[in-house]
Amino acid sequence: MTASVATHPRRHHPTGTICSPSISTVGDLSSALFPAGRSGLQSSTASPVEGLHMASDFNHTPVLLDEVVELFTPVPPGVLLDATLGGAGHASAILAACPQLHLVGIDRDGTARDAAKERLEPFGDRAVVVAATFAELGRVIDAGLEGAGPWPKGAPPKVAGVLFDLGVSSPQLDVAERGFSYLHDAPLDMRMDPSTGPTASEVLDGLDLASLERLLRENGEDRLARRIAQAILGARPITSTGQLADVVAGAVPAPARRRGHPAKRVFQALRIAVNGEIDQLDAALPAALDRLTPHGRCVVIAYHSGEDKLVKTLFADRVTGGCTCPPRLPCGCGATPTYRRLFAGAHKSSAGELDTNRRAESARLRAVERLDLEELP
Ligand SMILES: C[S@@+](CC[C@H](N)C(=O)[O-])C[C@H]1O[C@@H](n2cnc3c(N)ncnc32)[C@H](O)[C@@H]1O
Repeated sequence: MTASVATHPRRHHPTGTICSPSISTVGDLSSALFPAGRSGLQSSTASPVEGLHMASDFNHTPVLLDEVVELFTPVPPGVLLDATLGGAGHASAILAACPQLHLVGIDRDGTARDAAKERLEPFGDRAVVVAATFAELGRVIDAGLEGAGPWPKGAPPKVAGVLFDLGVSSPQLDVAERGFSYLHDAPLDMRMDPSTGPTASEVLDGLDLASLERLLRENGEDRLARRIAQAILGARPITSTGQLADVVAGAVPAPARRRGHPAKRVFQALRIAVNGEIDQLDAALPAALDRLTPHGRCVVIAYHSGEDKLVKTLFADRVTGGCTCPPRLPCGCGATPTYRRLFAGAHKSSAGELDTNRRAESARLRAVERLDLEELP
C-alpha cells in the first residue's frame, strides 16, 4: 500500500487542534433515539471524570492514518460509520479527503465525543456524533436509514464504510483519574464510559480464582496468570492502580520483571474485561458487514491478538462464503463469497510511524470490501 503523505489534508488539522468552542453542528442524538433503560444504551450525561479534561487537551495521534484514508478514498457516496470516533483524528482526515462521504461517529466516552465535536465542526452537517457503544452499531444504522435516528443531513441512505480503531485513546491512558494506567496512582476505574458499569476494582472483587486466572490468561496472554491471580485475591480489596501494580510486581519472579513492567498485560486484561471489549466487537463486526453497501469497505485496526483473531476469522468467513472445501481444490460446496480482501494478511505500522508513536507498535490493520453480486459473472 502506498501512502499519500505530501498532499494530505490532515496537515491543516493536527491532532489536538481546537476548531471552535461551538459544538452546535453535531450533537448526541442517541439519548432521544434510544432512551436509557429501553435499549440498554446508557445515558451520555456528564460524569465527574468528563469534567476533568477539556476537549482541546485531547491529544491522540491516529494510527496508520494515511493507510486508513487511502482505503476509504474509492468507496461510493454514503455514510462512514466510525465506530471508535475518539478525537476524530481518522474521521476528520477521511472527511477532508473523501467529499463523497458523510460521517456518523460513535464513542462511549464523553470526553472523546466533546473533542470530536470540536474537531468536526468545520464539516458542519456532514458529521453527527452519537453517544453509544459500538455493540449498538446495527441499531444506530437501521434507525438512521429509517429516518428514526441520527443520520447526517443530505447523506445518501447507504453505509459506504465502517472503521474500527479498537482499544483506548491516549487521553484515556494518560489522564491518571481515569484509572487505566499502572504508571499513575489513581482509583482503579478503567471504564471508558465512567457513568456506567462496575469499576475495575469492583470487577476484581467479584471474581473467584479460576475466573480471574482465565481473564488474565485470555485477555493478557499472561503465562504467570495463576500466580498473579492468587496474589490479587490475597490482597483484595484493591482500590488503586498503584496498589494493583505493586501486587503484580510482588507476584512475579525477578527475571519476568526485567521484561518490561509486569503490570502492563494485567492492566490490559482487566481493561478488556471491564469494558466487555471482545463481546462488543463480536456483536458489532457482523452487524457492520451485513449493512455495508456494495463496494463499501470495513477497516479494522486491532491492538490485541484476541481481537485481531476475531476480525481475521470473520473476514475469512465472508471472503470464502464459509467454504469448507479442501484448500487448492475448486469449491464444490456452493459457498458464496460476499467480500474480498483488500490485501493479504494484516498491515503494520512503518518504522517511521513507530519512531514517533510507540502506541502503534501492536497495531494490525485488516480491510475487506463488499462485493456487488450483480456484477459477478
Ligand atoms: C483508539 S481510540 C480511537 C481514536 C480515533 N480513531 C482517533 O483518530 O482519534 C478508541 C476509541 O474508541 C472508543 N471505544 C472503544 N470501545 C468502544 C465501544 N465498545 N463502543 C464505543 N466506543 C468505544 C474509546 O472510548 C476510544 O475513544
